Amino acid sequence: MTNKEELYREVLPQIEAVVSGETDTTANMANTAAVLHEAFGFWWTGFYIVRGQELVLGPFQGPVACTRIQKGKGVCGTAWARAETVVVPDVHKFEGHIACSSESNSEIVVPLINNGEVWAVLDIDSRKFNTFDEADKEYLEKIADMISPAQA
Ligand code: SME
Repeated sequence: MTNKEELYREVLPQIEAVVSGETDTTANMANTAAVLHEAFGFWWTGFYIVRGQELVLGPFQGPVACTRIQKGKGVCGTAWARAETVVVPDVHKFEGHIACSSESNSEIVVPLINNGEVWAVLDIDSRKFNTFDEADKEYLEKIADMISPAQA
């Protein structure tokens, strides 16, 4: 097992403990972003929430970010449109990448899906190239599944 997988195995129960005791979606997104950001030292870790035809910035850790992203645009809008995780080893080679920060070099976006509909995405940026792989996808998808949308 890689160091990264060991770290995911440590943070998974931490996140589960944090979100299982709380029903508020904003609080759970905020703490999930904080746990991941602190544990892995990512450049930017946060959520965008589906509001109509666009994604709007949600709880995050890291520098100021773009507030709205259209469906199908950038890595986030692509993960939303495809309803699947998008791993980008080099953001400069991703057609339509939205550069909220010039420091970011690789990225992963994981959709949060409820009843077959994407209702938010988890977006993580790294200053290093090639940061994210299948292990990140596997564990971050488990983490994304732990967060429930706000009840109507
Ligand atoms: N790079 C993202 C935009 C969001 S920031 O990375 C926080 C994208 O292309 O969708």
